[in-house]
Amino acid sequence: MGFISDQLIKWHKISGRHNLPWQNTKDPYFVWLSEVMLQQTQVNTVLPYFKKFTKKFSSIDLLASATEEEVLELWSGLGYYARARNLHKTAIIITENFNGIFPSSCEELLALPGIGRSTAGAISAIAFKKRKPILDGNVKRVFTRYFGIREWAGKISVEKNLWNLATKNLPETTTHIHTYTQALMDLGATICKRSQPLCNHCPLQEHCISFNKNWTKEIPISRPKKFLPTNEIFILAIDSNDHFLLNKRLTEGVWPGLWSMPEVRNFKSSSSWLKKNLTTENFRVIKEGIYKTSFTHYKLNIQYQHIIVHSSKLNKVKNYKWINKNNIKNTALPSPIRKIFSTL
Ligand code: ADE
Repeated sequence: MGFISDQLIKWHKISGRHNLPWQNTKDPYFVWLSEVMLQQTQVNTVLPYFKKFTKKFSSIDLLASATEEEVLELWSGLGYYARARNLHKTAIIITENFNGIFPSSCEELLALPGIGRSTAGAISAIAFKKRKPILDGNVKRVFTRYFGIREWAGKISVEKNLWNLATKNLPETTTHIHTYTQALMDLGATICKRSQPLCNHCPLQEHCISFNKNWTKEIPISRPKKFLPTNEIFILAIDSNDHFLLNKRLTEGVWPGLWSMPEVRNFKSSSSWLKKNLTTENFRVIKEGIYKTSFTHYKLNIQYQHIIVHSSKLNKVKNYKWINKNNIKNTALPSPIRKIFSTL
């Protein structure tokens, strides 16, 4: 048997959670109900709801014949109400299409409202003793830590890898599949906690990469932050002889040392920039445009004002020059700026 499954099954006998009301039965109706309630919700919160529900709806037929209102009322306070609506819909489908008998194949379970791959796996393993993997939030944390995966578990490629690992590490036989599945969830909830995991009580400690490399604080990696775009105003100035106004960028910041359109910084408006730096009021804004570009760590919206300058003097500003349109191609420009020029 594999190390993970072997250890977890032994550990569960001594340290796992026992005597939870849904563990007294292998009735798929109760297993399904508990698994749906336990999605994103802790055991202690679920306990009173599970009791209320099973008292009022002691069979799937009773749940199916209730109104949605009645189901929602009983669910009230547990949150994520789509779960209650889907529960009711699924009860109706099972009574009408499956003669009231819970389907046992993972494919049929997956087709029911509110049952995703992990819940289907849990029902298959716990109620039907099938060798199917689970991968809820807690289990993702256990596997990312154990295998030292330093990437966000919600990324498609990482999630795919985690499902493969979850499948590969199932016990070889179905004898203890139910204990293994419950143990994995219990380990995630009680030992391999997000903060302050109890590594010294963990049955997987010996081969856990995060424990051995001291990575438990860093893993699981959080979802990467979405960067808000930065808006910058640029001036696309062209004179009456088809010369473009360029500015050599500073060595710091984006595009160091490249030639670009002048950027309006620390000025109230582009016209105050023009008055100051071109010493002219003789210009006309003919168009405003926006070009969106992104870098590894941020997004930049280049807002540009396309203006025609009729007469001007560069006000002795260093790093500015007028360049003929035909010579643009030989100038070192950042590619978004080159693209904007090419549309003219
Ligand atoms: N979370 C999801 N299913 C669970 C279960 N059966 N026991 C404990 N936590 C869970």
